[in-house]
Amino acid sequence: MTEPDFLRLPRLEQWALLEAATGRPRTFFLREGTGGLSPAESGLVDRWARQRSQGQPLAYLLGFREFYGYRFWVNPAVLIPRAETELLVEHGLAVCGPDARLLDLGTGSGCIAISIIKAAAAQGKRIAAWATDQSAGALATAKNNACWHGVSVQWALGDWFEALGSAQVGLDQQQTLTDRPAEALRFDLIVSNPPYIAAADPHLQEGDLRFEPAEALSGIRKTQDGLGETARIISQAPNWLRPGGSLLLEHGWNQQTAVAALCKKAGFSEAIGLRDLTGTPRAVHARL
Ligand SMILES: C[S@@+](CC[C@H](N)C(=O)[O-])C[C@H]1O[C@@H](n2cnc3c(N)ncnc32)[C@H](O)[C@@H]1O
Repeated sequence: MTEPDFLRLPRLEQWALLEAATGRPRTFFLREGTGGLSPAESGLVDRWARQRSQGQPLAYLLGFREFYGYRFWVNPAVLIPRAETELLVEHGLAVCGPDARLLDLGTGSGCIAISIIKAAAAQGKRIAAWATDQSAGALATAKNNACWHGVSVQWALGDWFEALGSAQVGLDQQQTLTDRPAEALRFDLIVSNPPYIAAADPHLQEGDLRFEPAEALSGIRKTQDGLGETARIISQAPNWLRPGGSLLLEHGWNQQTAVAALCKKAGFSEAIGLRDLTGTPRAVHARL
């Protein structure tokens, strides 16, 4: 290896690249060093180290990210799953009864829906799940992840709830955005980590965000406060929930009061703010 880029990376990233390029565990390299790499392995590690030092997200180079203890395959069509989003899985699991119907809006890699289904199955619960995304690339990635994890999800391509009107998803084919499906077709839990970063937020020019899909971060119809897509979901969610059903929404650190107010305005009887493991306000759990 021509090492400068590689050596400048944090130790954990060096090991991750070596493990992915060679299939050997980090303990091997701790013991043997990197002198025995083949030219192909060495060339691959060098290339990745160069791309990483230019800012490419580690997860896109490796092709995967761990989330809720599970591996999810990722690529530049999807947001890289974040640890703080595990909050939605934990609360979603607690909300889901033994035969719950779940809808994941803006599924990306599929990490939320798939984690809830897998963890619920381990608790003896059988979840019937639907997931939507406006990105065909994201939906293909989510399908691949579901297949890899051996879970079944009904997928729908399109704009939030509108996607559910497509024929493939087993809901009413006549459904339109403003319709209210029969109670049997509605959901016990709707979960979403929508795009919520304000279009002018300077963080969009930093770190992994520079390489992630803009529609996943700020949405297609960008708004000044970042809440446009969240507001759309909240206003339509009551039509798609069973009585007593729950909406779980991730949001930005300074958006909790606004999101809770939007939920109350849309007719939810309660909207409880949740904090992530760092103590940051991160999600709202609204109940009809
Ligand atoms: C913040 S990412 C979340 C991805 C994944 N759920 C996660 O938590 O890692 C938002 C996702 O919403 C999708 N999205 C954005 N606008 C949408 C819309 N109008 N309708 C459906 N999906 C949308 C994006 O393509 C992206 O996959």
